[in-house]
Amino acid sequence: MPETPHAPGTQTAETAETAWGGWQPAIRDDPFGHFAQARARCPVQPVRLADGHPAWVVLGYDAARQALSDPRISKDMLATLEDNGDVVAEGLPGREFSRHMLNVDPPDHTRLRRLVSRAFAPPRVAALEPAIRDIAHSLLDELDAAGPGATVDLVAGFAHPLPFRVIGELLGIPEPERADLLAWFQVLLTGWSGDPPAEAVEASGKIVTYLRELVATKRRSPADDLVSVLVGASDDALTPQELLSSLFQLVVAGHDTTASLIGNGVVALIDHPDQLQALLADTTRLPAAVDELVRFTAPVPHATFRVTAEPVTVGGVQIPAREQVLVCLGSANRDSRHFTEPDVLDIGRRDGRSLGFGHGMHYCLGAPLARLEARVAFEALLGRHPGLRLGVDRDALTWAHGDGLVLRGLVSLPVVLGPSPGAIQ
Ligand code: HEM
Repeated sequence: MPETPHAPGTQTAETAETAWGGWQPAIRDDPFGHFAQARARCPVQPVRLADGHPAWVVLGYDAARQALSDPRISKDMLATLEDNGDVVAEGLPGREFSRHMLNVDPPDHTRLRRLVSRAFAPPRVAALEPAIRDIAHSLLDELDAAGPGATVDLVAGFAHPLPFRVIGELLGIPEPERADLLAWFQVLLTGWSGDPPAEAVEASGKIVTYLRELVATKRRSPADDLVSVLVGASDDALTPQELLSSLFQLVVAGHDTTASLIGNGVVALIDHPDQLQALLADTTRLPAAVDELVRFTAPVPHATFRVTAEPVTVGGVQIPAREQVLVCLGSANRDSRHFTEPDVLDIGRRDGRSLGFGHGMHYCLGAPLARLEARVAFEALLGRHPGLRLGVDRDALTWAHGDGLVLRGLVSLPVVLGPSPGAIQ
């Protein structure tokens, strides 16, 4: 859709507030047309969230980059809004687990990110490749056991457990304990609007108890894993609250996002057989294809909430102080002022840097790991099943896993894996 031209500095914000989030199924499942219409009206506008709170949504590419890197737009919602008496949506598991790098500004952000970064050093990430490949193939072995022609759920059987097992390896979560933890996170991260349902509260409590026990265990017997590294850091480097918050955030950030990329990516490739064939014909295109799938399918459609510490002009629109800001990455990544034919999936695309992993100081710390996991997942899946196809009508797919704002994932992905192995080596 062509963008309405906006001269810099001449925007006026919409006066009528648009509702944002809690969408009807048609928009929830395919939000990009809705984003484009809103973006064409104005690249930055006030909205009313599904929980009733007001916020500003940033839709244009340039405005999004600015908002993500402007130091006057804070990530510390609690500190910036609390002393004003404003309500802050806390989510689960609540305040005690909210002190991690994605919720703070420098200097705390610098300190927390540096501590966790050790686990994401390029050689450490690259060394995980054989383990990731083993995980991918063992999951596919289990799915193949259903027999040729059987319909299997690629989300439950592959896209979710793969990144969860990888983050389990990285953190040092013992194998027998992972299934319970994954089940609790599935309940916690399944979308709802308004007050969390009782089962989500219960799952959240179990996760909190589990992570506390994990920390106690690693304190008694440290190993070569990220939890042990963080537990071993001095109390000056990391408070107990920051430690637990960081672990919680890493598990959330580290699995549902990548799971959604794999699921969304498979659907996008099935929807675009020419791109799938191009990939099957030349697998060296996979790394670029993964980045294009992040741009096109928006596994993280919005960055996490920010708040203006003072009045800030973004994309020519002035946002007052102490207002919540939501940067719509899924919209920015379809902005025709930055990408040629943005609504086309093109695995050979070279025309710009997507904001799918964010931008600025909070740029995704796990991006190299996510890219590696997705590449290995697609290599294994397409290598064994290049002829895979949907096991249900396309219209039956629903993107209700996640809240639709920060996470956009499929509830399930029934596919027929089919024979013809060996196209990708
Ligand atoms: C396709 C997969 C992924 C996508 C699309 C994604 C996307 C993002 C985005 C957009 C942000 C910035 C949020 C903001 O500025 O509000 C972010 C931050 C972050 N991500 Fe990811 N992510 C993915 C996978 C991962 C993985 C696998 C890990 C770790 C195992 C991870 C860890 C983090 C961390 C720690 C941050 C916070 C960085 C900071 O605040 O400095 N992510 N991610």
